[in-house]
Amino acid sequence: MTATDHSSETDDMPTVAAGPDYSLPSDAEMQAAFKLIEDNAQRIFTWKYDREREQLVTLYNKAMASQWNSVTELDWSTDVDPEREANHDHATVHLARRVAEMPGSPLKNWGDKEYRQLALELQKAQLSQFMHGEQGAMMVAAKIVETVPWIDAKYYASTQTMDEARHTEVFAKYLHEKLGEAYPMSPFLEDQITVLLEDDRWDIAYLGMQIIIESLALAAFGDMLRTTQEPLLKKLLRYVMADEARHVAFGILSLGEYYQELTDAELKDRQEFMVENTIRSRSRASTPEVWERMGVKFDDVLPLFMEAVKESGRSPINSFQRGFFAKLVPNTRKLGLLDRNGGFLREQWEQAGLMEFEFAEDTASDYEAYDEVAKDRAAAAAG
Ligand SMILES: [Fe+2]
Ligand SMILES: [Fe+2]
Repeated sequence: MTATDHSSETDDMPTVAAGPDYSLPSDAEMQAAFKLIEDNAQRIFTWKYDREREQLVTLYNKAMASQWNSVTELDWSTDVDPEREANHDHATVHLARRVAEMPGSPLKNWGDKEYRQLALELQKAQLSQFMHGEQGAMMVAAKIVETVPWIDAKYYASTQTMDEARHTEVFAKYLHEKLGEAYPMSPFLEDQITVLLEDDRWDIAYLGMQIIIESLALAAFGDMLRTTQEPLLKKLLRYVMADEARHVAFGILSLGEYYQELTDAELKDRQEFMVENTIRSRSRASTPEVWERMGVKFDDVLPLFMEAVKESGRSPINSFQRGFFAKLVPNTRKLGLLDRNGGFLREQWEQAGLMEFEFAEDTASDYEAYDEVAKDRAAAAAG
C-alpha cells in the first residue's frame, strides 16, 4: 500500500513507521503542479549544416559571448528589505488612496501599513508573472529549436533556451529568497503562451514570443528598472534585458526573411494574429489575487477602481502600454506586416491609435548597444 492509497485504511489502524515514499503524486497533486500541452507542430531534422544566414551567425556568436552566470555574476548576499524596495509610487497605490475615500469603500480603514503592503504585493505579483512568462519563453524557444527549418536559427534558439532558463531561475530565486511567496500565473498570460506552444506553424511561436511577448517584457522590465533602487534587482534586470534585446532581434531577422515568401492569404492570418493579440489584449484584467491577499474582495473593489481611473485619468498600464507599443509597432513594420493585404494591419492599428509609433526606434539592433554584460566585464577588466 502506498501513502496515497487510502482505500483499505480505517481510522483506527495503527500507523506503521514508513520508509521514504517513492509513490507517484496523486492526480490532484499532478493537476496542481503541471499543465499538459499538446504541440501540433512537426519537428524538423535538417542535413543542411552550411552557415547561410550571416546575421544569425553574428547573433549566435554574440549570444555565446554574452551568456552570464546567475550564480557567480549576481551578488545573492545582497540584503533586501522587501517593503522598502517596493514601488510606493505605483499607480495602483495612488488609485487605492482615492478609492479609500469613496463612500462605502472596502479600503476606508486603510493606513500607511496597508499601502506599503499593497506596494509589496504588487511587486511580488509582477515578478511572479515575469517568472512564469520566462518559463513559457524557455519552452517556446525549445519549440523553435525543434521546428524551425534553418540550422542557424536552431543554433540561435538553443542559446535562447539557455537564456530563458537562467531568467526563470533568477526570478524564481529572487522571489523565493528575497520577497516571499509567488503568485500563480495570470490566466491571460497562460492562454497567450499555451496558444503558441500548441500551434502547428513554426513562425507563430516566433511572432507571439519574440515579437509580441518579448516586446511586452522589455517594456515591463524597463519600467521596473526605472523604479527600483535595489542593486541586485537592478543588475538582474539589466542582464535579462540585454538577453531579451537579442531575442527580439532574432525574431525580426527570422520572420523578416520568412514573410517575404508567404502568400497574401498566409500573411493575412499573421496580421489577424497581431490584431487579436494586441488590441484585444489591451483590455486584460489586473491580478485579483493581490486583493485577496490584502483581505479585500476583488469584485467589491474593481468598480471603485474603474471610477478612480476615470476620475484621475491615471491608469496603472498607460505608461507601460506606451512602452510596449513603441517597440512592437516599429518591429512589426520591419517584418513587412503593416501594409500587405491593402494595409489591413495598419488600418486596424490606426483605429486603435497605435500608428504614432510607426517610426519609433525598432529593436533590431538594440542588442549591440545594450550589451550590459560586456560593459560590466570590460569595466571589471579595466580595474
Ligand atoms: Fe527571458
Ligand atoms: Fe527572451
